[in-house]
Amino acid sequence: MKKIILDCDPGHDDAIAILLAAGSPDVELLGITTVAGNHTIDNVTRNALSVCAAYGIEVPVARGAAWPLVGPQVLAKEVHGETGLDGPPLPEAAFDLDERHAVDFIIDTVMAHEPGTVTLVPVGPFTNIALALRKEPRIAERVESVVVMGGSFTRGNVTPTSEFNVYADPEAAEVVFRAPWNVTMVGLDLTHQALATRELQDRVRAVGGPISEFVLGVWEWVATRFESLQQIEAPVVHDACCVAAVIDPTVFTVEKADVRVELTGTWTRGMTVANFESAPGKNHFGSATEQGDYRTDVAMTLDWPRFADLITDALQHLTRVRKGQS
Ligand code: RIB
Ligand code: CA
Repeated sequence: MKKIILDCDPGHDDAIAILLAAGSPDVELLGITTVAGNHTIDNVTRNALSVCAAYGIEVPVARGAAWPLVGPQVLAKEVHGETGLDGPPLPEAAFDLDERHAVDFIIDTVMAHEPGTVTLVPVGPFTNIALALRKEPRIAERVESVVVMGGSFTRGNVTPTSEFNVYADPEAAEVVFRAPWNVTMVGLDLTHQALATRELQDRVRAVGGPISEFVLGVWEWVATRFESLQQIEAPVVHDACCVAAVIDPTVFTVEKADVRVELTGTWTRGMTVANFESAPGKNHFGSATEQGDYRTDVAMTLDWPRFADLITDALQHLTRVRKGQS
């Protein structure tokens, strides 16, 4: 059983990641921590509590950072609407927040579990993860790994070079990529393969019940919103790719790279510069003497059928469990 802490900014695709983590029989969701990103910390935290309340998910939820470490706040209201999770109706929270700040929840949880048993899964700006590392550096040696949704080694989605989660807090991302732990970077290059196609939507519809209806409502809202914002063929299921990789690491291929975050570029701030170990001639960062560390696993090619199975299976499991409760 893989144990994870899901650090998120719900956010339509974050909500799917919550359901996948809660619904997969192969994952123990130790807790959800929230971070400002898709919307304000108040809204993303309320949204996390509402998704849990709607679908019987009883795990600690801890509120996190309201602002990035250094730069100005960047939100994605234009993408996720005025509430941060516009579209399907959601209930009020069914339980109170954990009394700890997200950073303390992360530290306490990692330090309380056996080394190598807890995986951190940040799918919003990495602010909480960076703060936790600075407050308790020992978490670096204790976590199993960190599977981040963020970055891109090709094109960005907020600027030509930069993906939202990294762009919203580049300093936090650089802290995470430089720390002495294993990072898997699930960037846009991978998540743009994770499309909620008609086929996947039909499979989710066949699950039936309120959870299925919620997921279809999320994808319908995203599809409608994105038709006006940018051309995509189907809703992108970004954040669930990270949870899927914890459940089944073969769900995508990876390549080793040294990943660094541009912090000062006029036009490239927040760009993840991936220096692949397989690159011909192994480009060196800076001078020829500065060797890359090539520690980051960069996600490359998605096994979409396997991904679709994981999503569908988790929703079926969560629906069955919920029926058992009612
Ligand atoms: O760039 C995609 C990421 O930004 C996703 O995590 C989405 O939820 C937003 O946070
Ligand atoms: Ca997110």
